[in-house]
Amino acid sequence: MDKITIHDIQAKKTRGEPITMLTAYDYPTALLLEQSGIDVILVGDSVGMVVHGLESTLPVTMDMMVLHCRAVRRGAARALVIGDMPFMSYQLGIDDAKRNAARLLVEGGADAVKLEGGAHMAPTVRALVEIGIAVQGHIGLTPQSVSQMGGFKVQGKSVAAARKLIDDARALERAGAFSLVLEGIPARLAGLITRSVSIPTIGIGAGAACDGQVLVTHDLLGLFDRFTPKFAKQYADLAGAMRAAFDAFRADVQARAFPAPEHEFTLPDDVWDAIAASDSDNGG
Ligand code: KIV
Repeated sequence: MDKITIHDIQAKKTRGEPITMLTAYDYPTALLLEQSGIDVILVGDSVGMVVHGLESTLPVTMDMMVLHCRAVRRGAARALVIGDMPFMSYQLGIDDAKRNAARLLVEGGADAVKLEGGAHMAPTVRALVEIGIAVQGHIGLTPQSVSQMGGFKVQGKSVAAARKLIDDARALERAGAFSLVLEGIPARLAGLITRSVSIPTIGIGAGAACDGQVLVTHDLLGLFDRFTPKFAKQYADLAGAMRAAFDAFRADVQARAFPAPEHEFTLPDDVWDAIAASDSDNGG
């Protein structure tokens, strides 16, 4: 099957076909997402919280993102892979943003980058697009601004805040963003934004009217319970399955039930006899 491009994602919006996007941070997960036919794999800076156990996404570095992107790329030949720009990798200046976005593409193998922020980020988005880098915007609940928002809170709840989000979406579209993540926004507002831009919107906690949906894979699999947002539907209990497997291993080892004969390597009898004879002192 052909590799998915940003044009395929755009065509899905035009045809009214929902776009699927999930996060991955490693090779085996990327392989499984690919086998499921997920359109877009986001190597999100959520890796900091769900894989590295950090309190927020703020301490995530470019080196971490490049490493995780590279692992995901090896497992995902077909899906569109988007590398997330971590905190302070694009806010300090356009040259910095260009250098860091290029690292995600060149060293990490990503097809595109994502960055958080509204109209104030439009010049950065435009500068990246002008040098050939595809950019996905991210507005609404933007976790890198968690301190400013006073926590992980739904955004766009007043008329002024809603108007600002609509303006942000249009500014990012004009700057050349190929798609927008809408996070933590009331569903009707997300629907209005989706209708008012021609690029695809991918919602997370933004209702059913978006052009596509994204979840953090660890939430979907039941692998992260430190913080469970209302919008995160859990499709599996992998934590339960893993705990049961770890408990069974511990019990088997303690009972000397593992390894069993089928897990052992054997020596031909004549070789064993010779070894034993050469070391008879130790009861070989
Ligand atoms: O980092 C991430 O996983 C994200 C998604 C929540 C969209 O930005």
